[in-house]
Order: sequence, then C-alpha cells, then structure tokens
Amino acid sequence: MPETPPTPDDLRPPTERRTGENFFRRPLSYVRRTERLTVGQQRAWDTRRHRYLVDVPREHRELSVDPDWRFDAAAEFGRTAPVVLEIGTGLGECIVHAAASHPERDHVAVEVYTPGVAQVIVRAGHAGADPADAGGAPGQELDNLRIMQVDALELLRHGLPEASLDELWIFFPDPWPKQRHHKRRLVTPEFAELAARVLRPGGRWRLATDWAQYGEVMLKVGDAAEGFRNAHGPGGRAPRFEGRVMTSFERKGLNAGRAVTDLEFVRV
Ligand SMILES: C[S@@+](CC[C@H](N)C(=O)[O-])C[C@H]1O[C@@H](n2cnc3c(N)ncnc32)[C@H](O)[C@@H]1O
Repeated sequence: MPETPPTPDDLRPPTERRTGENFFRRPLSYVRRTERLTVGQQRAWDTRRHRYLVDVPREHRELSVDPDWRFDAAAEFGRTAPVVLEIGTGLGECIVHAAASHPERDHVAVEVYTPGVAQVIVRAGHAGADPADAGGAPGQELDNLRIMQVDALELLRHGLPEASLDELWIFFPDPWPKQRHHKRRLVTPEFAELAARVLRPGGRWRLATDWAQYGEVMLKVGDAAEGFRNAHGPGGRAPRFEGRVMTSFERKGLNAGRAVTDLEFVRV
C-alpha cells in the first residue's frame, strides 16, 4: 500500500488547525493547496523519500518541530561543507540545480507543500545526469541534498544551530499582496533576526520577488537589520543571482509584466 504523505495540516498543532495561527500566534505564511500527488510524485515519495527527507522529530504537541531538536548537518551529510538552505523551494528547480552543479556544498530544501516536496525528490533523481537540465533523464541521486517538510520559521527559531548556514535563499515567497494579508508575509524584521541567528559571519541572505512593493519592504528590512549589510550598498538592488534558475513562479510573474527584484545581504 502506498503511504499517504502528511498534509500541512498534519504538521500543524491542533490549536493552529482551529485558529489558522501557530503556537507563536503568528499568521501562517503559506496557503493550503491541493495535496494530491501525481503518479510520478507518489512513486518517488514511496520509494525514495528516505534518501532525502530529514526525519524532524515532532514529539511536542504544540510545535511541529521539537524545540529540543537541532539539525546536525555534518552528521546528516557525513562531512563538513558549506550549507545552503532555501526556504519555500516550491517545485525544487533552484535547489536541485544548485545541488547538482555544486557537489562541494550541501543543500537543504525547506517546504511545507507536499507535492512540492515530492517533486523535489522526483527532480533530484533526474539531476545527476545533466545539472543544466535537472528534470531530464534519470541520473545519479544527489548526496548533497536534503529536504525538510517544516514551517521555516520554527526551523530558524530553534531547529538550526547558530551560525550554521553559509547561504539562506528565499525566492518568490508568497507575496500576500492585500494589505490585510501583509502580516502573513515571511520577510519581516523578526525574520531578519532569525536569519542573522542562523547565518555565519560573511554568510549571504539572498532574496528575489516579482512584487515591487514586497521588494521595497524586503530592502528596508534587510537594510535596517542589525546583523546585515547590503552587499550592494544601502538601498541597493543586486543583479540577478546567477545561481537562481527560472522557475514557474518567476515565469508567471514575467508573463504578467512584473519586474523581478533581487537582493543580497551579508551577515556582518
Ligand atoms: C510562491 S512559491 C515559490 C516557490 C519557489 N521558490 C519558486 O521560486 O518557484 C512559495 C513557496 O513557499 C512555501 N512556503 C511559504 N511559507 C513557508 C514556510 N513558512 N515554511 C516553508 N515553506 C513555506 C509555499 O508552500 C510555496 O511553495
């Protein structure tokens, strides 16, 4: 019998399921989407998830990440290497491409959306053959990629050791364009504090969005954050990050005539 993957609701504590808020009384930054898997995604989930999914302990009823648990990248990857973590990996285009083209680094995909997690697993199994076209013919599996199906805020708050990341990426986070939904946005001054906690000095926080107003907010947040300096000077936008491959979300934004803002902050 195929095993049913958890839905984001399963990852939420019971109080949150009732109120739409989490333990910290913070509105959720993600939306409920269909949890149905394609045949290929279900097959990848059934046969290959153990290779990629980090088994995050969830013993405490009130939190989806056990607050006593810490991610040990060296133990997980069996080596000490720079670690890149992407929040909201969606269908995994970026992080799988990064892992396939940078075997010298380790990579962590963080996503709550189950078909997205399954698609990262599908994609990872096809990436080794041709890093330039992750999603092509079956190749080698990627030893330098792991996936965590958790709320990124909980992970950054207590699941990651301090100064444990070399890069933190957030590309095209849910924009929550309506004023009354702005409180659901991921990038806030509080988030910048968490990002500063987990990045090592000299580490990079990279962001991209196709929502101009959210881009302005991200810029202000990063420029004002104590733990960071803007790599392109105060108020500066970054050129397109060469490691950021085109995703379906970016294409949708471009097709709708929206311009993309790239930002890069350095942990001081
Ligand atoms: C608009 S999509 C962008 C996906 C991808 N970065 C891209 O560029 O194609 C945003 C993704 O972030 C995920 N997400 C939102 N909030 C999250 C959170 N707190 N923790 C983990 N994932 C989150 C959503 O489930 C969604 O898949």
